[in-house]
Amino acid sequence: MTPPANSLTQADRMLCRCLKVTESQVEQAITLDGAASVRCVTKQTGAGGGCNACHCAIKSLLARRHASHVSH
Ligand code: FES
Repeated sequence: MTPPANSLTQADRMLCRCLKVTESQVEQAITLDGAASVRCVTKQTGAGGGCNACHCAIKSLLARRHASHVSH
């Protein structure tokens, strides 16, 4: 029996298909390891080091994380 297609949480979704990096790995690089740019995220996780298609998603996570820091 296969799990439902939506069984992955949002954080477990594959963010970078080229390098097989999940959203949670990128969030960890941003929140715990202090990655502040796409280049930093790529250096720490590998995400974004292939076709560059996920750069928008990485930027979006960086912006979201930055906005949450500003509001606290
Ligand atoms: S999907 Fe991330 S570099 Fe291609």
